[in-house]
Amino acid sequence: MCGIIGYIGDRKASEVLINGLSHLEYRGYDSAGIALRYNDKFEIYKAQGKLINLINVIKPHQDVCLASNIGIGHIRWATHGLPTEINAHPHTCNCKSLVLVHNGIIENYQELKEELLKKGSKFLSQTDTEVAAHLIAYEYDKTKDLHLAMQNAVKKIKGAFAFCAMHKNEKDKIVIAKRNAPLVIGVGEGENFVASDIPAIIEYTKKAIYLADNQTGIVTKDSIKIYDEEGNLINNKIEHLPFEAIAISKMGYKHFMLKEIHEQGDVVRNILSSKLEGAKHQVVFDEFKLSSEKIKKITRIQIIACGTSLHAGMVGKYIIEELARIPVDVEASSEYIYRNTIADENTLVIGISQSGETADTITAIKQAKEKGSHIVIITNRADSTMARLADSLLPVSAGIEVSVAATKSYMAQLISLYLLAFYLTEQKGIVEYDSIIQNLKQELIELPNKIEMLLENTENIKNIAKKYSSYKDFIFIARGINYPSALEGALKLKEISYINATGYGAGELKHGPIAMLDENMPVLAILNTGIVYDKVLSNCEEARARQAKLIGVTNYIAQKDKDLFDDLVLIPQISDLMSPALNIVVLQLLAYYIAEYLGKDVDQPRNLAKSVTVE
Ligand code: F6R
Repeated sequence: MCGIIGYIGDRKASEVLINGLSHLEYRGYDSAGIALRYNDKFEIYKAQGKLINLINVIKPHQDVCLASNIGIGHIRWATHGLPTEINAHPHTCNCKSLVLVHNGIIENYQELKEELLKKGSKFLSQTDTEVAAHLIAYEYDKTKDLHLAMQNAVKKIKGAFAFCAMHKNEKDKIVIAKRNAPLVIGVGEGENFVASDIPAIIEYTKKAIYLADNQTGIVTKDSIKIYDEEGNLINNKIEHLPFEAIAISKMGYKHFMLKEIHEQGDVVRNILSSKLEGAKHQVVFDEFKLSSEKIKKITRIQIIACGTSLHAGMVGKYIIEELARIPVDVEASSEYIYRNTIADENTLVIGISQSGETADTITAIKQAKEKGSHIVIITNRADSTMARLADSLLPVSAGIEVSVAATKSYMAQLISLYLLAFYLTEQKGIVEYDSIIQNLKQELIELPNKIEMLLENTENIKNIAKKYSSYKDFIFIARGINYPSALEGALKLKEISYINATGYGAGELKHGPIAMLDENMPVLAILNTGIVYDKVLSNCEEARARQAKLIGVTNYIAQKDKDLFDDLVLIPQISDLMSPALNIVVLQLLAYYIAEYLGKDVDQPRNLAKSVTVE
């Protein structure tokens, strides 16, 4: 949600900024802009919509682009005010001496705006960021020092921000500040970078400094100075970035989403390589910091997450309760917060997040932490805010996920939850599940090959996608451990194709949703051999009796039942407990091919952001 880039060095700043912004596009945005220092003033270019519009705006200004080596850029996901050119960043002040880009939300911007209006500020946009630009400019007029002005301004600001500012009187300098929004400095030689995320800078440097909350900094071409809240100069360590530039290339796939779906076999292999030596071995979870004595005392587990990560958590509940016999509640982070949740030192709280930056989950985690619960974070970003809040950090290491729709990170979360369930069971010493766990471990080891078998032959799924792409509505049903798969399959379809898709527990169909069924409402049913197979089959009969078109995703179907379905996708043999990890691949592909067939912007669906940094 919003992306920041800043550059100072000898390269053409415009190129670095546009390139950097293109690698932040995944965050979701609706306008873009850059400011370049040129002849001791700033040239600001902005455009509504996609980055290509900004590129077209800049094109006629090659003189500026060729000459300028310092600049800041931004992609904006509208919060205050429409996604218009005027609301796009960078923002400036009355005399245009300062430019500012911002990620986050300034909660007290109305109060600040009223005060600044009285002092003569004239506002052009509806944004909270423009208020911050005027505030910093006002402080600059008093101090004649941009960094001091930034320090004074952030003391007056309530809310979240990552700021990147330049002042025309301070020639070779970018000043930054951060609170509850990500900001990283890319360390180069004779050049430096600032960005909201590392894909924007990974092409240029592998060294980075992460800013902590309430820190400010001064970045020049040859130096980086960071200060704490009290203004003391401090020494943040330089970290080596674990990513390759290749991770942010499509590698011949049409979309990142398709590439990421295809990476899932390797994602599973990668996680297992360090955690599970073989089916007869215990899970190695050095990152888990609770002793087995403490694990035995856990009375409940709360899983908090949003969206796709929430669905992974729902699968996690099923496996943990089944094996480790600990009661698990799973709740959307936005519902967990702002009520007096019951958690204590014997509650294990698990936060799940691809980005590690989701504002609702961060707030929920902080709330649980205050109650003394042990916090486990399962995230794809070991460098994130959430990771830093963890008592036990379980990084899933799926690699950078660029497509907004989460796929391989979901797979990685599922695998981590399976391993965690095994680990908790083993640490609790529940020996009667040993053989069940051993079988499941064997299945986990075989899972990458099964995923790849599915991915090798996608013709059937493509045909189904084409056949159903003109439908306006869709229902997904399943029961038991695949109920979350139905929710996740429906979420994938709606977010990238904009088809109205809803997931239901199959047993719930007859309690209301069945009223919607007719020949215009296809039903996709997930049936896996196991305890609920016959029940889901009966629910399919009920749907069929209402003329609904039926698609089955299954590992087995008896000859006599085949005619019930209009279309079938057969997945490789797998146990019910492990089947969510295979069924989801079918649902991801189906959503992908429908959206692709409809010509949608698969990797950057409208209105969505990869990293949801506002509550
Ligand atoms: C769906 C999707 C979102 C995220 C949700 C939480 O494809 O990506 O539903 O899962 O916004 O994000 P994280 O996992 O980063 O906390």
